[in-house]
Amino acid sequence: MLSKKIQKGLSAQLNHEFYSAYLYLAMSAYCNHSDFNGAANWLKMQYEEEHMHATKIYNYLVEQGVHISLKEIAKPPKNFGTLLNVFQMSLEHEQMMTARLNDLSDLALKEKDHATYNLLQWFVNEQVEEESSVNEIISKIKLVKGDGYGLLMIDNELHQRATPAPIN
Ligand code: FEO
Repeated sequence: MLSKKIQKGLSAQLNHEFYSAYLYLAMSAYCNHSDFNGAANWLKMQYEEEHMHATKIYNYLVEQGVHISLKEIAKPPKNFGTLLNVFQMSLEHEQMMTARLNDLSDLALKEKDHATYNLLQWFVNEQVEEESSVNEIISKIKLVKGDGYGLLMIDNELHQRATPAPIN
């Protein structure tokens, strides 16, 4: 049985993960519209991954017998500026998600809820990987300093990102 505080925290995180999915979908749409189809693909794959994150929390809450109350998902922005801006916004967003997950992990420990803590550690580790891949993309974009050919090469590379494998 999860404490009320943990239920509230996980429900909020569930909403944040759905918002993440929505944000990446908005970024993907923006990149498609801006003819960065490779970046649009990368961001669409990220949308799918975030959707799986939300589902992972949802499944855990169901398993723990919680009657989930789904909240509204906030509207993401429509325009994101340059390709560099898109990924900088993604990084800022992921850093905020990491901070939230760290706070939630602290709460789980305080509540002596080790099952939830274990679940959250999966997310904390996932954040390391996510921040690192976005950082790598930002470095590459900065390296080409707005050069059209360089941006095209990066966009082609981002096209290679495949559909994420299902997570448990
Ligand atoms: Fe699921 Fe990128 O946070």
